Amino acid sequence: MKKVLSLLLAVVMMFSLVACGGGEEAGSDVTTYKVGVAIYQFDDNFMTNYRNELVSYFETKNTDTVKYEVTLVDGKNDMATQTDQIRNFITQGMDLIICNLVQTSSADAIIDEVVAAEIPLVLINREPLAYDADGVPVKEGYEGILNNPTVCYVGSDARQSGTYQGEIVLALDNKGDVDGDGVVRYVMVVGDPENIDAQFRTEYSIKALKDAGVEVECLVEQIGNWATDQGQTITANAITAHGDKIDVVFCNNDGMALGAYAAIEAAGLKVGEDLYLLGVDALPEAIDLMKAGNMTGTVLNDHIAQSHAAVDAAVDVLAGGEMQNYYWANYAKVDKAYVDANY
Ligand code: BGC
Repeated sequence: MKKVLSLLLAVVMMFSLVACGGGEEAGSDVTTYKVGVAIYQFDDNFMTNYRNELVSYFETKNTDTVKYEVTLVDGKNDMATQTDQIRNFITQGMDLIICNLVQTSSADAIIDEVVAAEIPLVLINREPLAYDADGVPVKEGYEGILNNPTVCYVGSDARQSGTYQGEIVLALDNKGDVDGDGVVRYVMVVGDPENIDAQFRTEYSIKALKDAGVEVECLVEQIGNWATDQGQTITANAITAHGDKIDVVFCNNDGMALGAYAAIEAAGLKVGEDLYLLGVDALPEAIDLMKAGNMTGTVLNDHIAQSHAAVDAAVDVLAGGEMQNYYWANYAKVDKAYVDANY
C-alpha cells in the first residue's frame, strides 16, 4: 500500500512539474499563458518604446493565479525570418501571438497559419490593408481580420497624423512659406512605401495644405526606411541640391526627423527661421528638440494607448472573452503650445 501511495505521489508531482500552456498546473492554482511577440525590427525607435511598454504592462496583469510568460523576437526587418518565428511560436504551443508584421502584404499568409493552429492573433502597428498603386484601398476591410473572431488589429489611423502635420504648418504666421514667394516648397522623407502609415502621412500632410489653398511644390520625396541615418542623408542631399529654396522638411516619423535635424544643423540652417521641420511619434528626443526651438512640430503616436489596448485584448481573449476586430488609438497634434502644456 505504501508503495502504491508513493507511486501515486510521484505521478502527481510529475504532473505538477509539467507546464501546461494556458492550463492550470496540477497541484497549483496558477495558470500560465505563453505569449509570443514578434516585432518587425528591434532597431526602431518607436517600436522600442512600444515593446518595452507592452512588456511592462503585461507584468501588471500577473496575479497570484494568472501569469503571462512573454517571449519577444526580432524580425530584423526580414519577412522570411518573421514567418519562421511565427511558425516556431506555433510549434512551441504559444497561447497567443502578437505580431508587428514586417510586410503587411504577408498578413493573409500569417493569419491563415495562426488561425489554423487555433491561436488568437493580435496584429499591431502595421495596418494590413491592401492599396493599389494610386493609393486606393483594394479591400473595404481586411478579410483575414474581418472573417476571424480571434484576429484583431490595434493601431491608429495614419490619415490623422498626416493631417495634423499639415495643420501645424498652416497655423504658422506664414503658413510654411518661409521666403514669402507664394509657394511652400518641401522635402518629404518617407518611411517605407509598403507601409500605410508612410503612405497616408505623405499624402495627408500635403492634402491639408492644398485643401487650405496653399500652393505647394515637392522638391524631393525619398524613402528613409524610418531610420535616423537615412533621414540625415536624404536631408543633407536635399539641402545641397536645393539650399534655401526648402521651406519645410516633412518626415514620416521622428526617427528620420532627428537625422534631418542633424543635417540642418550641419548646414548651418536654423529651424523656424530658414525652414520648418516636422515629424510623427513625439519621441522624447523630438520633444527635446521642440523645447529648444529646433523642431516645428510632431504628432503623438500613442504607443502607451496602443500597447495597452493590445495587452487588454490579449488578456480578455485568453480569459475566454471576445475580441473586436479593430482597436483604435487617437493621435494628438504636438505643436509648441502642446509641448508647453504637457512636457
Ligand atoms: C511609427 C514609426 C515606426 C513605424 C514602424 C510608425 O507608426 O511612426 O516611427 O518606425 O511605425 O512600423
